[in-house]
Amino acid sequence: MSHSQDSQTTDSSHQNSQGWQATSRSTSQHSGRTPFLWNPGQHLTVVAETGLGKSTLMEWLSRQRRYKILLRSKPDEVEWRQERTISRASQLKTAKYDSFELYPHGDKNARAKEFHEALEYAYETGGWTVIIDELFYVSRLSLPAKNRRVLRLESDVEDLFTQGRSKHITVMAGLQRPVAVTRFAISQSKHVLAGVMEARDAKELSLATSRQMEVVVQNLNDYEFAWFSRPHSIMIVKLNVESQELEVLE
Ligand SMILES: Nc1ncnc2c1ncn2[C@@H]1O[C@H](COP(=O)(O)OP(=O)(O)OP(=O)(O)O)[C@@H](O)[C@H]1O
Ligand SMILES: [Mg+2]
Repeated sequence: MSHSQDSQTTDSSHQNSQGWQATSRSTSQHSGRTPFLWNPGQHLTVVAETGLGKSTLMEWLSRQRRYKILLRSKPDEVEWRQERTISRASQLKTAKYDSFELYPHGDKNARAKEFHEALEYAYETGGWTVIIDELFYVSRLSLPAKNRRVLRLESDVEDLFTQGRSKHITVMAGLQRPVAVTRFAISQSKHVLAGVMEARDAKELSLATSRQMEVVVQNLNDYEFAWFSRPHSIMIVKLNVESQELEVLE
């Protein structure tokens, strides 16, 4: 199955639930090959320390998908090619576009509110690839709720990871370490791509993926990722930024 067919599967599931029309702006196709098929509904998590190319790789992978919502929480050099950059989640509902970058203005509370609304919207409407570039940061945001309770965005994220599949939602998340975020990020991901990491984190990652990953991820070079695909396949990949091909090294 080619990746364009793969993304069409996502598209039709979204169109069924939304009845949206295709727009001419949304035809950016992705011809890059990946060693494993990344099908709609299969969550994918990228784990690597800062500066090792997570966002670059996630942006490249996300080109396979048409209906996507990126939650962006910080500036970096990576140019996400979404059709529309918005600052409020309510714009998801009104704008007739297929892919969005939500980059809220304001402080942490404003970001929490917008991200919460976007995650809820994605959950309710289905069919999206939801890209959470910095999962650790987003999960720790919270909002005041009724009766002095606090609504933590981690629970929104967990809902998507655990129940999103039935709604044809794919979560793609980036994290710097395999700890201190919801366990579902790794345990519910069909695909886990990990960069080089220290022994303690490699051990932790292996407990949630496979034993082989422990050694593999300690021996990677910069920008190389061990792509673990459940149940037990591993390939070493590196994005060649010049050719824009994902090279399989082993
Ligand atoms: N495959 C690659 N080959 C060469 N350079 C790369 C590659 N991937 C990323 N880079 C470069 O490395 C730098 C960091 O990349 P990127 O922002 O994707 O990393 P990151 O892991 O998301 O970092 P952070 O945790 O700070 O967000 C950028 O300058 C980018 O151009
Ligand atoms: Mg990044």
